[in-house]
Amino acid sequence: MKWVIMNEKQLIKAAIKARALAYAPYSHFKVGAALCTADGEIYQGCNIENSSYSLTICAERTAFFKAVYDGKKQFEAIAIVGGHEDNVELEICPACGACRQVFAEFCEGDFKIILAKNENEYIVKTLSQLLPMSFELK
Ligand code: THU
Repeated sequence: MKWVIMNEKQLIKAAIKARALAYAPYSHFKVGAALCTADGEIYQGCNIENSSYSLTICAERTAFFKAVYDGKKQFEAIAIVGGHEDNVELEICPACGACRQVFAEFCEGDFKIILAKNENEYIVKTLSQLLPMSFELK
């Protein structure tokens, strides 16, 4: 099925809501993500940190792994918001390299990545723009 009606602002709103659940007692940098599946569902994720720092998972991967566990494997877009918990205004949080590689596992180059400060200020990139040469096993 093709992407139905999910618009960018709705997806950003969902990412902002997800950010409220971030568990970031070490960095205090909270991130929210909202992933839109090809059949129009939204999967939200937040970053979840760990005292053994490297075990931290980013908001984007939380959203992807929730969706894949639910049997979803086709995706249209993800909205990402982030910022230090003390700051009222969010900043553009462009998705780390590890998350981009996870996007590439399931998505084509035209997958939309919406990097938002709020519902009205955001930029839209494609996966091929953010990760031009992803690793693939042939
Ligand atoms: N983080 C994300 O959740 N997504 C990103 O795209 C970049 C970084 C998280 C990981 C860590 O909990 C905190 O932000 C600071 O790096």
